[in-house]
Amino acid sequence: KIQELLAHVEDLKAKNAEQLELLRIKYLSKKGVINDLITEFRNVPNEQKRELGMRINEVKTAFQDKINSLRQSLATQEDDHSDLDLTRTPYPIEIGTRHPISLVRDRLIDIFNRMGFTMAEGPEVEDDWHVFSSMNFAADHPARDMQDTFVVEQHPDIVLRSHTSSVQARVMEKTQPPIRVICPGRVYRNEAISSRAHCFFHQLEGLYIDEKVSFADLMQVMLTFSRELFGPETKIRMRPSYFPFTEPSAEMDISCHICGGTGRHGDHDCVLCKGTGWVEILGCGMVDPNVLELNGIDSKKYTGYAFGLGLERIANLLYRVRDLRLFSENDKRFLEEFMAAH
Ligand code: PHE
Repeated sequence: KIQELLAHVEDLKAKNAEQLELLRIKYLSKKGVINDLITEFRNVPNEQKRELGMRINEVKTAFQDKINSLRQSLATQEDDHSDLDLTRTPYPIEIGTRHPISLVRDRLIDIFNRMGFTMAEGPEVEDDWHVFSSMNFAADHPARDMQDTFVVEQHPDIVLRSHTSSVQARVMEKTQPPIRVICPGRVYRNEAISSRAHCFFHQLEGLYIDEKVSFADLMQVMLTFSRELFGPETKIRMRPSYFPFTEPSAEMDISCHICGGTGRHGDHDCVLCKGTGWVEILGCGMVDPNVLELNGIDSKKYTGYAFGLGLERIANLLYRVRDLRLFSENDKRFLEEFMAAH
């Protein structure tokens, strides 16, 4: 029996504290196997008692040791948190969506990158020179009026840029032609906030300066990008306009992508183009030679074109957003509508 028990001791296993307690009761308690041995021991002849007593003690110690070591390893298992991921959030993670303005910006970046335009950047807090003077605004030009532009009161030379054309100046002052850049960014204007106006919005500026750049080049790039964005049937038209930094200047329309330029939707006028068949999308023109000279570029050698478009405007055309304020309110119901547009 003793032999059997000793052979068995190493096989003892306990997965948890309850199983371990059952083992202890089975072998080491008052009514346990080993106490039974001790009871039997009393009936053994005296001359065998010494030898047998030692063997029984041996078994008892073996079981005590085994059960103690099982208890030890159970305890260290409980302390072992190596499978615990403390970076996990305690609640299910909600997946966000890309903002419609980012979606439009990234599509435009992609289109213009493929036509060889690289990215340029400039600060949102700018000086008067880069926003206005270097862009050929006369000292008394109404766009410099405090009504439109946010100005630092103690520092009237510092403004929040009111258009991304300031980045044109930032690029020209450090680079000689050929220049072919786009600059997306946020701009600020002191407008009362409504469904149709906001005190900040986003633009994407384009600038191309090289030898012999013509208005035809501008038209072709505008046509290509419009067709990429609004479909291969899209037409463009230029209407004469005025900007201080371009000459000639134009406002560009695209044929309405909702009614296909017909202006009609069944028996009523198209809601988007109001029956005209055209929607306005951007301002552009040939860089005024004055602007080239003001920014250190030889206007006899080089010509260029520039364009500036509003990202909210494009997003409105693509996604029919009716209230500009939705773009900056972060209402999840609005943002989740763009889940599928990724
Ligand atoms: N900066 C002009 C605006 O904000 C847009 C523009 C950019 C026009 C470049 C012509 C050339 O309205």
